Amino acid sequence: MIPENTGPAAVIVLAAGAGTRMKSRTPKILHEIGGRSMVGHALLAARSVNPRQLAIVVRHERDLVARHLADVDPAAVIVDQDDIPGTGRAVEVALQALDADHHLTGTVVVTYGDVPLLSGELLAELVATHERESNAVTVLTAVLDDATGYGRILRGEDGTVTGIREHKDSSEAERLIREVNSGIYAFDAAVLRDALAHVTTDNSQGEKYLTDVLGLARQSGGRVAAVVTADRWQVEGANDRVQLSALGAELNRRTVEAWMRAGVTVVDPATTWIDSSVTLDEDVRILPNTQLHGTTTVARDAVVGPDTTLTDVTIGEGATVTRTHGSGAVIGPRAAVGPFTYLRPGTVLGETGKIGAFYETKNVTIGRGSKLSHLGYAGDAEIGEDTNIGCGNITANYDGEKKHRTVIGSGVRTGSNTVFVAPVTVGDGAYSGAGAVIRKDVPAGALVLTVAAQRNTEGWVAANRPGTRSAELAQAATKDSSSTPASTEEGNQP
Ligand code: UD1
Ligand code: MG
Repeated sequence: MIPENTGPAAVIVLAAGAGTRMKSRTPKILHEIGGRSMVGHALLAARSVNPRQLAIVVRHERDLVARHLADVDPAAVIVDQDDIPGTGRAVEVALQALDADHHLTGTVVVTYGDVPLLSGELLAELVATHERESNAVTVLTAVLDDATGYGRILRGEDGTVTGIREHKDSSEAERLIREVNSGIYAFDAAVLRDALAHVTTDNSQGEKYLTDVLGLARQSGGRVAAVVTADRWQVEGANDRVQLSALGAELNRRTVEAWMRAGVTVVDPATTWIDSSVTLDEDVRILPNTQLHGTTTVARDAVVGPDTTLTDVTIGEGATVTRTHGSGAVIGPRAAVGPFTYLRPGTVLGETGKIGAFYETKNVTIGRGSKLSHLGYAGDAEIGEDTNIGCGNITANYDGEKKHRTVIGSGVRTGSNTVFVAPVTVGDGAYSGAGAVIRKDVPAGALVLTVAAQRNTEGWVAANRPGTRSAELAQAATKDSSSTPASTEEGNQP
């Protein structure tokens, strides 16, 4: 009979430790790499093998951790470890929570919440080997140059795994062993349950060691084996911030490489940071110094960077985003953004639209083909299609108490330095003159001017700034003309 293609009976993720070396008010497993908490990565790997039950053992800062777990994996069973210390005790309390009647059969996997690069593939390989070989315990191991601190894998003459010795409990000879226990295992449920009942705290740390289960399993006739991985990063935990950044850099290296293999051009992988949650299409080009975070997605043929940081931004096909800092924005197909542009949440730029240099936008919908090319602020606004917003335009959306909306139609042309004092509406096809301060609605097709008379006071510089370079040049320019100072006034032109 072909066995049903289901995952292990349970995965238990250990996460009760204090993580004191992080020196942080944030619990260790909540620290992030690749835009996701370490425990978030661990739970994704655990979920990917499709376990029937998933438990996570907590203790240190348990409320903060539990709140985070409610976001990242609400179905995980949260188990509180008691005062008895040790990895063996952690697994014991999890088993009690998952298997109150002691009937659980099949494979129980144990992983750590602070080993973020473990892949679902390697975990699946561990489970497959364990089940294929009908082992009592299968431990994931790695051979390290420096094994200090790790539990060492003890093997008999014939190479079979006989047990694990903790660093602190090991002899000089055992300390020369470089094959280490990753702390990740597949157990037969019944063997694990029975062995844990016999594990004591009789060791140098006074803890219930999960590693003691291996020896006990062998004593009762079970087969103990190892899966040795050549990829040490997958079993590495982060204990301090130096390891956290090393793991973060390696995760990023892997993420960037995977995108390149999937058809994305990354000009400079070393300065490109891509969160695990980002998605990119084929033929996207990423230029140096670009960071893509959160739910950012980039469609085919778009070019992003250089020097661009985007969080939760959706970029359409063929768009360009240059030297931009943005979050919560949608950039339409073939639209252009930047350089030096600040996109804030709620910015929606239509197809072939443009938000140019030194623009800040927030909560604004910009229609197809409309351009805000240079120097301005657009917030709480709606702009139609094929509208050209002149240089230096501002939506004055805040009256000191409340925010108000600006509505600008399609085919509008605004002069430089137009200010829209919201709430205000400008109709389709309207024009505004330079410096217009629009306080009242403008009908479709109208020209709006807010005329302030211009006054020239001739000879003012000679009289008030005598002896300056300006006065000297003014005198040279005016020496042939009338010496009588005069004032002139005239209206503005659009
Ligand atoms: C453990 C292993 C060691 C292995 C190493 C790999 C034991 C006895 N030793 O050592 O062989 O080489 O991991 O990193 O298992 N935890 C709990 N409750 C506890 C203690 C720990 O949940 O009471 C969790 C921690 O949060 C952590 C993991 O278990 O995620 C490992 O704990 P840690 O103290 O780092 O184990 P080590 O002593 O380093
Ligand atoms: Mg320890």
